[in-house]
Amino acid sequence: MAKLLPLQLKWKPVASGGGSSDSSGEGRRAVIAGQGTIALEVLQQVPQITALVVPVGGGGMVAGIAVAVKALRPDIRVYAAEPCNADDCYRSKVTGELTPNLHPPDTIADGVKTSIGPNTWPIIKDLVDDVLTVTEEEIQQATQLVWERMKLLIEPTAGVGVAAVLSEQFRSVSQNICIVLCGGNVDLGSLAWLSPPGKEANGN
Ligand SMILES: Cc1ncc(COP(=O)(O)O)c(C=O)c1O
Repeated sequence: MAKLLPLQLKWKPVASGGGSSDSSGEGRRAVIAGQGTIALEVLQQVPQITALVVPVGGGGMVAGIAVAVKALRPDIRVYAAEPCNADDCYRSKVTGELTPNLHPPDTIADGVKTSIGPNTWPIIKDLVDDVLTVTEEEIQQATQLVWERMKLLIEPTAGVGVAAVLSEQFRSVSQNICIVLCGGNVDLGSLAWLSPPGKEANGN
């Protein structure tokens, strides 16, 4: 089993002049650029990494990170990770065309149900090295592994990156890998074993 080392970032979400509702091209570019600062902090703290793995939904996070990484350290590989049940980014890379999910995806990784779009796709197409897909079972197991071994309450969306690194597809990539654990928004009441006796996890 690989060593799991937590790394704390100082990054905090910042609303631009237009606020989070600023959906102009400028605003969207600012959101992508802002997420690139994750990469700046990672490179400062652990310059010895050789690969970065980032869960992908709309693609802003992986696009921002890829722009920063490829500008500063083109030797580092950037991987996007997504559920098999929401694999629009994977299919877009394979076909070379932006290929959004046709139906709302059914996945426990609810942070990455969105499809990549016209702003993020050109960056992902050019700068993301590969896209890894993982099953719902792999996401569940990886999320639980981080809870148990690292004592970090990550959400399943963050587990997508961990699952990708633990998967068969990643076996040959034996390097110093940084996984972005992108969120900790867990509804504890939805965990069956935490629900009071007689009350189902869905609240009934
Ligand atoms: C926890 C979490 N991680 C990752 C992402 C994916 O980010 P992006 O949509 O920029 O790909 C999201 C998106 O909302 C999220 O909520």
